[in-house]
Formats: sequence, structure tokens, C-alpha cells
Amino acid sequence: MNASGSGRASLRVRVIKPTIPFRGVQSKASRPKSTTKTPTRKQFSPELKRFEERFAKEAMPQPRPNGGISPRVLTFLGISALTISTYCGYLYASYQRQVSKGQTLDVPRDVSDRYNTTAPTFDADVELSEKAMGLGTKRANLVRMARGDVLEVSCGTGRNLEYYDLGERRGLDHQDRPGIIGCRSLTFVDLSPQMVAITKEKSETLRPGFKRMAFRAQDAGSVSVELDGLRRPGSKGEYYDTIVQTMGLCSMPDPVGTLRHLGEITEPKHGRILLLEHGRSYYDWLNRILDNLAPTHADRHGCWWNRDIGAIVRDSGLEIVEEKRWHLGTTWRYVLRPKQN
Ligand SMILES: C[S@@+](CC[C@H](N)C(=O)[O-])C[C@H]1O[C@@H](n2cnc3c(N)ncnc32)[C@H](O)[C@@H]1O
Repeated sequence: MNASGSGRASLRVRVIKPTIPFRGVQSKASRPKSTTKTPTRKQFSPELKRFEERFAKEAMPQPRPNGGISPRVLTFLGISALTISTYCGYLYASYQRQVSKGQTLDVPRDVSDRYNTTAPTFDADVELSEKAMGLGTKRANLVRMARGDVLEVSCGTGRNLEYYDLGERRGLDHQDRPGIIGCRSLTFVDLSPQMVAITKEKSETLRPGFKRMAFRAQDAGSVSVELDGLRRPGSKGEYYDTIVQTMGLCSMPDPVGTLRHLGEITEPKHGRILLLEHGRSYYDWLNRILDNLAPTHADRHGCWWNRDIGAIVRDSGLEIVEEKRWHLGTTWRYVLRPKQN
């Protein structure tokens, strides 16, 4: 046998029966001496080389026939695509159902009576969508501008109650200008007595210390100025300093006439009307959806969500101090004041 052949035979014996080092309490000197020799790296080299080659081959990512996507990922993507397409199909089918239902409905322009029945569940119904749209912050930013004798019309369940800055005093306004800030009195009005009752009840827990508050079930389109016992001394009590309305123009039969009337009872020089409304979008495709679903939505919820809020404001003749839009243009914010002569 040649040298390499004998070398391989002896190597095999040594590899199969390796010397296990003794790890007892014996001293180093008393340990039995190993009779076998540990093979050197040079002796291992052919096996080592083969092993290294095999290891490198296995560790390398192998190209997959489907362009590198693992079957697991492919299955996940397939299931997701199927779920999404099923859901879209369901949405489209119910959209079509609502559209054809709307075409057969004869919905009156005035749907405001719907709120008498939906008042108890109103908060729960709108809570999630308002959170998703960040409306709490938009309400807060608008309402904190209210000052003096304040009237909120279409108050609903009093969703703005918590944001009012109560107590008239000297200070810096929302633009850091010095002046009179805070609300002296707060009057809440809604056409629905059920809504007014909920606002009143909420005020007792949300703003318990503030006594200059009034609650009335009245039409915003003919609401009167009633500040007896609320107005500041010296004031004739003919006007409100601030009028607030949020999500109200969509629900009333005559939004232009109502805004005109509100302009007449707002203090002519420094008074403001603050609006946060929803209506038509910037986009035709979205307006088509709003238009198609409007009759069923109005019949159920008492709100025409496809109104052009900008056109209503322009037609009212009030002066625009500030205008902003969000959510593809469907949320509108206005700061208005009576027309200046
Ligand atoms: C969509 S809800 C908005 C409620 C509340 N302002 C808010 O932001 O959550 C519309 C409210 O307007 C009230 N409303 C409808 N027509 C009205 C009118 N002509 N005068 C006063 N309130 C009216 C309804 O009763 C309802 O409470």
C-alpha cells in the first residue's frame, strides 16, 4: 500500500475513536497519558476541504424557480389577495344595493327628525370614525376660539362641551394677541329635544363648576338671543359674541337661510361664526359616490353629506375670515363674520 493509502486508514481509526479528555478531580499528573495523536490540520485537509465545500454549497441561498419568493410568502400573498378581492366584491355589491335602494326612495329635504330617534346611540355611532379622522383635535382648535357670550347651534350630544375655554378674562388669544378671552356664557341649542337633554346631562359631569349655561330646543334658523341673567353688565344682550356650529349644515332644510339668520345675531364688529362641517370633496369620483349614496344616508342618518359647503357659505353673504379643508376636501372649517358695511 502506498503512503497516502495507509495515511487514510490510520486517519479513519483516529477519527472514529477520538480521545475524550478526562475531566475528573484527578491532578494533571495522575491523568492517563493519551496514546493516540490528534491529527494535524494537514492530515485532515482532504476531508476538511470536502466538508467546507459542501457546507458552503448548502449555506448559499439556492435560486428558486419562482424568482426568489418562498412558497410560504407566496401562500400568504395569495390568501391576502383573495381576502381583499372578496371584501372589495362585498363592498361593491352593498354599494350597488344602496344605490338602487336610494333610487326608489322618496326622501324629503328635511330629514332632521331622524335625530330624535338616533340621539341615544349618536355618540357610539360616530365615535370610531371621528377618532380615525382626528376630529377631536379639529373640534378643539375651533372651539377654543370662542369668547364672550357664546351660542352653539345644532349642538347634538354636546361633543364640543369639553373644549370650551370657560371664564371671561384678559389674556392671549389663540394667535398670542392680548385681549379678552374665554367664554362668559354658553347657550346650547338643537332642534331635537332629545339631543338637548343629552348635552345638558353631559354638561353636569364635564363642566360642573360653570353656572352661566343655558339649553334650548330651538330651530337654528330662527333662534333668538336670550341672554337674560347671562350677559355682561352694560351689554344690551342683542348679539352673541361667538356662534359655533359643527356638522350642522348637512342636517337642516335651509342651510343658507340659517347662516344668514346667524349672521344677524352675531355681534357686528368683533363677532365670529365658527363652523366645522362636512360635505362635497375636491374630487369628482368621490362626489359621485356621495351623490349616489346620499338618499339612503339621509333617510337613515338625517344628514345630506353631499352638500357644497363652500357654495352655502358664499350664498349666505357672510364674510370669510378663514377657510380650510381636510379629508380629500370633505371636512370644511370656516371662521366667518357678519358682512361689514
Ligand atoms: C350631525 S348632528 C351634529 C351634532 C353636533 N353638532 C356634533 O358636532 O356632533 C346634526 C344636529 O343638527 C340638529 N339640527 C338639524 N336641523 C336643525 C335645525 N334646523 N336647528 C337646530 N338644530 C338642527 C340635529 O338635531 C342634530 O343634533
